[in-house]
Amino acid sequence: MAVPGPPLWLLAELTYRCPLHCVFCFNPLDFAKHGDELGTADWLRVLREARALGAVQLGLSGGEPLLRDDLEEIVAEGRRLGFYTNLLTSGVGLTAERAQALKQAGLDHVQLSFQDSTREMNDFLSHTKTFELKSRVAALVKEQGWPMVLNVVIHRMNIDHVDRIIEMAHALGAEYLELANTQYYSWAFLNRSQLLPTHEQLRRAEERTDAWRARLGTSMRIFFVAPDYHEAKVKRCVNGWGSTLLNVAPDGVALPCHTARMLPGLAFPNVREHGLREIWFESEGFARYRGTGWMKEPCASCDQREIDLGGCRCQAWLVAQDAQAADPVCPKSPQHDRIRSAVAEAGVVERPLVFRDKRESLRLE
Ligand code: FES
Repeated sequence: MAVPGPPLWLLAELTYRCPLHCVFCFNPLDFAKHGDELGTADWLRVLREARALGAVQLGLSGGEPLLRDDLEEIVAEGRRLGFYTNLLTSGVGLTAERAQALKQAGLDHVQLSFQDSTREMNDFLSHTKTFELKSRVAALVKEQGWPMVLNVVIHRMNIDHVDRIIEMAHALGAEYLELANTQYYSWAFLNRSQLLPTHEQLRRAEERTDAWRARLGTSMRIFFVAPDYHEAKVKRCVNGWGSTLLNVAPDGVALPCHTARMLPGLAFPNVREHGLREIWFESEGFARYRGTGWMKEPCASCDQREIDLGGCRCQAWLVAQDAQAADPVCPKSPQHDRIRSAVAEAGVVERPLVFRDKRESLRLE
């Protein structure tokens, strides 16, 4: 197979610690069982190695990256190296002083998450009282002149609030609003039957989003991240395994996507022991699902295989229990009926929501 290009995007998951308890968190279910976080020197080395490989975009996420006292130092090194730096945050911990320090360090961009346009739902879904705090943080972000993306994860409990969410984002001065339909991995997969919206809810939300787009023009761009369970549209996940994204977990494990470490039979290298060049070009974990050579039927002979690259390996594992299978979202997948029944059964079987929490994490497999 052809030599892969460089990773363009380094996603540094600085910590799994988080003050929120979101029911759709994409951190692994067993996050509390993983080892110690990388120290500052290790992160700075990872940044240098990634930049030397050709990475240009640096995402700083978590958990809550503001819980790291060395965030400013990491941002400053990212800026010095020439990365475009983006902080993905819940806003908890962003004081006026820290905002100023991050600005001075050279932070380029902030993506702030809200759970909903109402205090009740925002605070319920995150199991914290953070709604007012987030509004204050949005003001700080504007004060520092950062372009602001407001990210709201959409699901059955807030999808009918799309009008109010868009109004709120516009009032807060967001340049971009990401209405991110829930992707069903990790904690969201656990809570899938409570989070999946109905087809009718989705249709209405898309209609309302289009109406707002027409009304707001370019003053705020709205992205409606497609919900693949409903669209039966296979996504080219992470733009292709080992093609663009290099994700480094808090304990230093390097991954082709943020949930890949749950896949069985794959060992991913740790940046404490291996350089990024070796990890990217030579490790078995990054090579396993690159390109199309690993495919079996129906992907192997599909005329879409170079376009969607077989979809998502993690979804294939979660739904079909076979990471090499076609993404079950694809109508050609022998397991596609599992996606259809998940949508049909959504909300019919009532189960309690499981909030992301350290105790739950230690209990869950
Ligand atoms: Fe892991 Fe799609 S999320 S390959």
